[in-house]
Amino acid sequence: MVLRTIERIPLEGKRVFIRVDFNVPMDEYGTITDTTRIENAAPTITYAAQRGAKVIIASHLGRPKGKVDQRYSLSPVARQLTGILGKPVAMAENCIGPKVAEKIDGMKEGDILLLENLRFHPGEEANDASFSMELASMVDVYINDAFGAAHRAHASTEGITRYMDAVGVGFLMKREIDSLERFTANPERPSIMILGGAKVSDKIGIIGHLLNEVNTLLIGGGMAYTFLVAEGVEVGKSMVEADQVDQALRTVSEANRKGVKFLLPIDHVVGDRFDPKATKKIVPNGGIPSEWVAMDIGPKTARIFSDEIKEAKTIVWNGPMGVFEMEAFAKGTISIAKAIVQSKAFSIVGGGDTVAAVKMAGVADNISHISTGGGAILEFLEGKSLPGIEALRRIAEDR
Ligand code: 3PG
Repeated sequence: MVLRTIERIPLEGKRVFIRVDFNVPMDEYGTITDTTRIENAAPTITYAAQRGAKVIIASHLGRPKGKVDQRYSLSPVARQLTGILGKPVAMAENCIGPKVAEKIDGMKEGDILLLENLRFHPGEEANDASFSMELASMVDVYINDAFGAAHRAHASTEGITRYMDAVGVGFLMKREIDSLERFTANPERPSIMILGGAKVSDKIGIIGHLLNEVNTLLIGGGMAYTFLVAEGVEVGKSMVEADQVDQALRTVSEANRKGVKFLLPIDHVVGDRFDPKATKKIVPNGGIPSEWVAMDIGPKTARIFSDEIKEAKTIVWNGPMGVFEMEAFAKGTISIAKAIVQSKAFSIVGGGDTVAAVKMAGVADNISHISTGGGAILEFLEGKSLPGIEALRRIAEDR
């Protein structure tokens, strides 16, 4: 990684802006339901504070569309962060402006201030130059630790870097990039990508790109049924994206041409309706009744996939194998999670649902790397350049 890490930047007495991704899920009472992103950013914040920086943290939350909307205030995050760090975190009522500047002026070394949601200003998502400059003018050092937002070219992830002398990445960002590069750049083989989730259209770009990189692709979840239709298999009322069938067929023949093992389910747990209490049965390919819906991979598929997984040396998994949030249809997804931790492979799991699935299976602690990225990990695996990372790479190479 050519990027400069926070450890190589003098921090003492400096006003250090740390862009994090605290876009965390909350329930209707403002309680944070998953604190992983906050916990994973904590080491960078603690490090900066211990080195005597005045730590200024900034994030977006939700999509308030450039307007102040208290439902998207970061105040609950400040409270959570205080608990996680074991150190007070002050909350600013804005992310720019004279009152914030005054607060920053009053900070002492080691103090921590969380700015209010960057997306309360339209300049953030517009990557507006004057908004970027205003953010930059308040601080001395810029650290990007927001892997989850690295695919966004926004003022706080991209624009600001043009107006800063000292820039670098935090520990979370470094770990994400190093882990993913272990998969994309010369991985230990066999390397396997396991893809699931509802839609082929979300993942077809990744599959196309990875056909040049991986040894094996295992496809489950709703997206498998578009591929099965392309191969002429009857899938009943299972979800199919009709406009993706031709592309799916081209992808399968491309995989064959390139010698990539491309495995689809050969049996299915089907329900008579899409409902947790549906009547269910196990059927082979071709056996899905016309009114029934595929809800999970079947036991034979789970065994075949698990055998592949156990031989692998590098694994990335994104997307569940079925409707795992319904207990009756969780077995396939859980068995994949367990197979991954039984293998000796370096394993990466990304995407909200998939991370929830490994937690449900009780194996999250044994996964080598759990990514905090949603869209960002997908774009990374698709081989796209992520503006938040590219901006820093350009600077690191230029200097
Ligand atoms: C995410 O949760 O994937 C990131 O925080 C990006 O959020 P966004 O899709 O609203 O830009």
